[in-house]
Amino acid sequence: MDLNVLRHYQTGVDKLDTEHLALFIKINEIIKTLGDKDKTLELLIEFTQASELHYAQEEVYMMTIDFPFIYAHRQDHAKLTLKNKSLFYDIKLTARPDSERYLVQELSRQLLFHIDYYDLQITEYLKKKTVQ
Ligand SMILES: [Fe+2]
Ligand SMILES: [Fe+2]
Repeated sequence: MDLNVLRHYQTGVDKLDTEHLALFIKINEIIKTLGDKDKTLELLIEFTQASELHYAQEEVYMMTIDFPFIYAHRQDHAKLTLKNKSLFYDIKLTARPDSERYLVQELSRQLLFHIDYYDLQITEYLKKKTVQ
């Protein structure tokens, strides 16, 4: 994945943007391991742990700014984590590297969608808050 794409998904909150970048760097590392299933799974587990930590920290941040839509946001974090975990099994069961590539790209697409739809709501909220 071209990391420049992330410029369009900047929340403006440095800590969150740095963590998002780190997650996509990890996805790129995972893509490089395709074909070596053990390594892919090892990095996928690391990615899932890092993303869970990011989600938890983002949820704490949302609480500190009194973000009103935290419940739906949190639910999507939980959904993403479940999907990542189910991917472990999908990758274990597939014998084809092109299927593995598709699954990992799907992981990247879902995370981008989450940032675009949910994380950027934080940006909008912060903008409105400073206007008031
Ligand atoms: Fe989020
Ligand atoms: Fe996030």
